[in-house]
Amino acid sequence: MIFEPTTRQLPCREGLVALLHEELDFHDADSSYASHNFHAFPAKFPPQLPRKFIAALTRPGENVLDPMMGSGTTLLEALLAGRVAFGCDIDPLALLLTYVKLTALDKNAIVTQHYKLAMHAQALVNQDSDRLRQWLEHQWDSATREFITYWFAEETQLELMALLHEIEQITNPAFRSFFELALSATIITKSGGVSLAFDLAHTRPHRVKVARSATGQIIMGEDKLASLPESRQRYHVKTLRSPLEEFNKRVQINLKGLNELDGIDTPHYLARGNAQALPLPTDSIDLIVTSPPYASNAIDYMRAHKFSLAWLGYPIDHLSERRKTYIGGESISDFSFEDLPSNTTQIVDTIRQQDAPKGAVLHRYYSEMTRALKEMLRVLKPGKAALVVVGTSVMRGIDTQTQNCLAEIGQALGFEVPAIGVRRLDRDRRMMPAGLKVDRESQIQQRMHKEHVIGFYKP
Ligand SMILES: C[S@@+](CC[C@H](N)C(=O)[O-])C[C@H]1O[C@@H](n2cnc3c(N)ncnc32)[C@H](O)[C@@H]1O
Repeated sequence: MIFEPTTRQLPCREGLVALLHEELDFHDADSSYASHNFHAFPAKFPPQLPRKFIAALTRPGENVLDPMMGSGTTLLEALLAGRVAFGCDIDPLALLLTYVKLTALDKNAIVTQHYKLAMHAQALVNQDSDRLRQWLEHQWDSATREFITYWFAEETQLELMALLHEIEQITNPAFRSFFELALSATIITKSGGVSLAFDLAHTRPHRVKVARSATGQIIMGEDKLASLPESRQRYHVKTLRSPLEEFNKRVQINLKGLNELDGIDTPHYLARGNAQALPLPTDSIDLIVTSPPYASNAIDYMRAHKFSLAWLGYPIDHLSERRKTYIGGESISDFSFEDLPSNTTQIVDTIRQQDAPKGAVLHRYYSEMTRALKEMLRVLKPGKAALVVVGTSVMRGIDTQTQNCLAEIGQALGFEVPAIGVRRLDRDRRMMPAGLKVDRESQIQQRMHKEHVIGFYKP
């Protein structure tokens, strides 16, 4: 399905101002069309957001970029509108997810492949569990093995291994990726999917104390059940679902989404890479719509993503190392800081006075964003715009004023910032660390009530 190009083509600078004053919440809008819901992803923005700017500020065939593409919302919207989509992310799951979401596949071939795969995997579980145990034993290094043993019950591991084995037999990379993503989607969900994690949307997932099999039998923590008060049980007791069944359901859902990719014929270009050094020529992009991570690692992508990436062949130590390189990370050893403009320096200094390490982490964040904005400025064509969606962070009770600091940094680099829009978040719908009780006004909830959409214009 290709959306009709809008009739409301706007000149870029005036268009930016007008659009940023319009409603940007999209709370009642349907976000689940096409392949948008193939897999959960933390802090993705509603598709209507990039869609609005793509429709009004670009024409069919023009180049749209998201240098921190996450689940590829901007890229999918660009393709649906007949624009050429460019994307980059440092996270391996973001790459897999976006690749699958943008790739139109022959549905009949997927159905046939799925039938074979599911049948063989079930047969392995029913008849060959010894072989599955052997594979599980030799699949990983010791750290990854330990991680898997801690977070997945043995019966879950057997089914996941059977599915993985069958997926690995698929030679067509697009088909294999489609099924890898469906496998990942059975693990990474708000409720922790088929793993023993209680909640992967929280900043720090915890393992349930008691696990029941699908048939109701307690398979872990029987001794702990009696001491758990009734009111706490829903956070600590989990009935595990069958990965084979969850996988089959997920494939059916994703097959429906594929219908809407039929007829897409504009190309897309994806790179695993760093937004601070984009693999793109200067003056080549017509519009950027992106949302960088929050300052101070408020959403730790790798913490949830490693639950499926470990199954997909990434050693756990390697993932922990990679995590340090994400924008907003907390490690500052060997980090090369940028000079920041005056107001931003003042905010960093105020936080530094309260808490020196936190101030340094914020300095790191604004340094990384300086480099990312410099790259956005370089690759944009003159007379074009970048929309950067950011949340506010509160450190030591002080608002880091991310939107004002990034606007100031952008201006110091040569951008104009004609307007900053505001959007209220719909916390029920986003996969966010929103706290166990909705009414508890934790610091993290307060800072995630709203977002700003900064309009950067390259003169
Ligand atoms: C808020 S998410 C983007 C969500 C996206 N707008 C969506 O709708 O799914 C931020 C993304 O920035 C990525 N990221 C972090 N550091 C990066 C870097 N140095 N270069 C590129 N991407 C990076 C993260 O992996 C994450 O996917």
